[in-house]
Amino acid sequence: RRIALVGAPVALGASRPGCAMGPEAMRIAGLAEALAELGHEVSDHGDVAPMRADDVSLEGHARHAAHIAGWARALDEAAYGLLKDGRLPIFMGGDHALAMGTVSGAARHAHEQGRPLCVLWLDAHADFNTPTTSESGNMHGMPVAFYCGEAGFEGILPAGRPTVAPRNVFMVGIRSVDARERELIAARGVRVFDMRAIDEFGVAAIVRRILAEVERIGAMLHVSLDVDFLDPTIAPGVGTAVGGGANLREAHLIMEMLCESGLTSSMDIAELNPYLDERGRSARLLADLAASLFGRQVLDKVSTLATVK
Ligand code: ARG
Ligand code: MN
Ligand code: MN
Ligand code: MN
Repeated sequence: RRIALVGAPVALGASRPGCAMGPEAMRIAGLAEALAELGHEVSDHGDVAPMRADDVSLEGHARHAAHIAGWARALDEAAYGLLKDGRLPIFMGGDHALAMGTVSGAARHAHEQGRPLCVLWLDAHADFNTPTTSESGNMHGMPVAFYCGEAGFEGILPAGRPTVAPRNVFMVGIRSVDARERELIAARGVRVFDMRAIDEFGVAAIVRRILAEVERIGAMLHVSLDVDFLDPTIAPGVGTAVGGGANLREAHLIMEMLCESGLTSSMDIAELNPYLDERGRSARLLADLAASLFGRQVLDKVSTLATVK
């Protein structure tokens, strides 16, 4: 596949500084090299810069709204342009506000192809706040509400832009949701597999079901991986850690199943905060997970089966 790496050093969506260093840490961790080694054509497009959006001012509580709006515009363009060019973009964040732009651009591209867009949202959080519901005002807690077309974000992208149907958003690993967010995601019909569902059914059953649905409706698939999806003991480089996250084996299995499906059309790696990391271990784990998604495996399928038999 033709993979395009894109730095998205968005930082003001989060309250703790450090995410701006995320793209550089992913480069140092060898993401491009790992993907190239798997036989992909990999190009690094450098870092996107935010556009101007001084015209934007939102009602309610949304910190740095105009600045984040500028990022949304720039990343919407970047995602749309790369997908249209036949590439598979991987956005290296940057806090999760980056998904306002990346998912919107992917939705625009899918819409043009006459296909729906599904989103696999791997996160401890639902990120479904709006400027009206948010307690923190941090816009990294709002991207899903934004790309699903909730009210309160007017003027950031053109009215009438393609949005994602909430029932085509599949959240996996969720374990921290604000009270008003909980009401919204239930009312909109977002499909949520929380940590309890993972414990009860296992990631394989959940991911199999999600991929079957993506396939059934002929959708494109955007995978958005928030570092806090992972348990903080294996990925400490994140500002909003929540205990009880996905372990190493669950995370790799999800990536391997995504790989086998061949359905992924774009991806975010969000919330990596190298300032909080321990000697690059979170960055290296993320590079390993991306490698699993794009084909790395211990044995080929035939040898695995032979071993089991
Ligand atoms: N729900 C909280 C908020 O709105 C936390 C959001 C955390 N989001 C993230 N991408 N880490 O502030
Ligand atoms: Mn570029
Ligand atoms: Mn998030
Ligand atoms: Mn999160």
